[in-house]
Amino acid sequence: MKQALLFLKDKKTYFDYAILTFLTEENDFLKAKPGNFFMLQANTLLKKPISVMECNKKDKMLKFLVKKVGKGTEFLYNLKPGEIIDAVGPSGNTFPIDKNSEYILVGGGSGIPPLYFLSKQLNKEKFVVVYGGKSKKDIVPIFGKSSPTIITTESGDIGTKGTVIDGIKKAIEKKRFKNPVILSCGPEGMVKAIKKYFPQFKHYTSLEKYMACGFGVCLGCVVETVDGYKRVCVDGPVFDIEYLKDFL
Ligand SMILES: Cc1cc2nc3c(=O)[nH]c(=O)nc-3n(C[C@H](O)[C@H](O)[C@H](O)COP(=O)(O)OP(=O)(O)OC[C@H]3O[C@@H](n4cnc5c(N)ncnc54)[C@H](O)[C@@H]3O)c2cc1C
Ligand code: FES
Repeated sequence: MKQALLFLKDKKTYFDYAILTFLTEENDFLKAKPGNFFMLQANTLLKKPISVMECNKKDKMLKFLVKKVGKGTEFLYNLKPGEIIDAVGPSGNTFPIDKNSEYILVGGGSGIPPLYFLSKQLNKEKFVVVYGGKSKKDIVPIFGKSSPTIITTESGDIGTKGTVIDGIKKAIEKKRFKNPVILSCGPEGMVKAIKKYFPQFKHYTSLEKYMACGFGVCLGCVVETVDGYKRVCVDGPVFDIEYLKDFL
C-alpha cells in the first residue's frame, strides 16, 4: 500500500455515475487486482474507499466508477480532467479464482466495478455477469457486446424486468452452469437475497462497509465472522459469505 498522486486524464458521466480514468507514476498502484480498492482524496475529512475498475500497467492507467451519493463522491464526480488527487492503495484482498470453476458475477449499482475488472481476466466460457439496478440510470454501459452479461432492472426500462435473482436464474439456464460460484458486490439486501435464494452455491461477496482510516487502525469497518471480528479494509473486502455472521 502506497500514498501517491493520480492525474485525471479523462472523465465520462452517465446520470449519477462517473468513470474516472487516472494516470499514475506509482508502480505499486499498477499492481492492483480485482477486489482491491483505493482511498481517494475528496473534499471531506476522510478519504473515500473506491474499488478499482481497470488497471493497465502499460498505459500507467487506473480507472474507477463512482456513484455520487454524498459529499465525497460528489467531489470525485465533479473532478475535471487535468486535476490531481491524492490516493492510498491498493488495499484489501481479492476474489479467490480457480480456473476450473464457473462463475456468476453479480453486481448491483456501484458494486459493479470490481466484477467488471475481474470479468476481463476470466475465460468467457466460464462466467456470466448479472448487472442489476433500479432503472437504466443504474446500468452504466461499460460491458461490450462480447461480454456475457445479463441486465436486470426493477423498472424494466432496460434488460429483464426484475432483480438480480431473476438474472441469476436466467444465467444458470442460459449457461447450463451446474455448480457455479457466485461472486457479488452490492447493497446488503441484494447480497442477503442471493444467499436466501441460492444457498447451495459457494458465494464470496465484496463488502461496501463504511470506512474511516482504510488501513486497519480505527476499527470503524469491523464485521462479525464465525472467527471473531474482522476489519473489512485489511481482512476483506472479499469474504466467503458462510464466514459472515450477518449473512448466516
Ligand atoms: C471497499 C469499498 C469499495 C467501494 N467501491 C465503490 C466504487 O467502486 N464506487 C462507488 O461509487 N462507491 C464505492 N464504495 C462506496 C463509497 O465508498 C461510499 O459511497 C462513499 O464512501 C460515500 O461517501 P460520500 O461522502 O459521498 O457520502 P456520505 O455523506 O458518507 O454518505 C452518503 C449516504 O450514503 C450512505 N453510505 C455511505 N457509505 C456507505 C456504505 N459504504 N454503505 C452503505 N451506505 C453508505 C450514508 O449513510 C449516506 O446516507 C465502496 C465502498 C467500500 C467500502
Ligand atoms: S476503516 Fe479503519 S480499521 Fe477499517
